[in-house]
Amino acid sequence: MRVHVADHPLITHKLTVLRDVKTPSPVFRALVEELMTLLAYEGTRGVRVEPIEIQTPVSPTTGVRIAEPRPLIVPILRAGLGMLEGMTKLVPTAEVGFLGMARNEETLEPTTYAERLPDDLSGRQCFVLDPMLATGGSLAAAIEFLLKRGATDVTAICILAAPEGLAFLERELEGHDVTIVLGALDERLNEHGYIVPGLGDAGDRLYGTV
Ligand code: PRP
Ligand code: URA
Repeated sequence: MRVHVADHPLITHKLTVLRDVKTPSPVFRALVEELMTLLAYEGTRGVRVEPIEIQTPVSPTTGVRIAEPRPLIVPILRAGLGMLEGMTKLVPTAEVGFLGMARNEETLEPTTYAERLPDDLSGRQCFVLDPMLATGGSLAAAIEFLLKRGATDVTAICILAAPEGLAFLERELEGHDVTIVLGALDERLNEHGYIVPGLGDAGDRLYGTV
């Protein structure tokens, strides 16, 4: 598993506003989208392309286009939905599938309540979007789901992660071709499984349902 922490002053600046408890939902949503566009740039560094011949006004040349089968973007509902627009702006020809997952706040175990994905993901490059990687349970389950359907190349893009969650993913996904792209790696999890310093409950802050 490869882990890439984006290191850019604009990302840190936007993250600071996102973390601030005083930031209201509309601003939070706009920031998640902006951050996602910056992280998508990092996260799609390995997107598969194929050569294409074109004609400029001056001469023929060889360029590239995104290869078939098209990449699949999978936002994890609910909070991952806030990242979707930022990603599709950058990769408009990608397909989108959905996974709905909710973490039980007592046991911290994830359950999957919705799935709308192609049955066969053989040869597909998948990009999973979820702002929070806390214990890692939700992301591990989502990635395992995609691997079981045949995906061989999965990149997860998260805004924040805890070291405990990354260590869990490392164990669970050993031997698989998985890349994790992060806006920041935070200090730790607290006794309730929340990322510290974190930003609180991403879904609630996005959609205002605290
Ligand atoms: C949040 C977040 C992740 C999960 C992370 O979702 O978006 O999916 O928690 O926690 P974990 O790493 O410990 O599994 P939540 O289950 O709160 O659902 P929501 O997006 O509907 O708010
Ligand atoms: N889910 C969140 O939304 N925030 C956390 O800090 C942990 C899990």
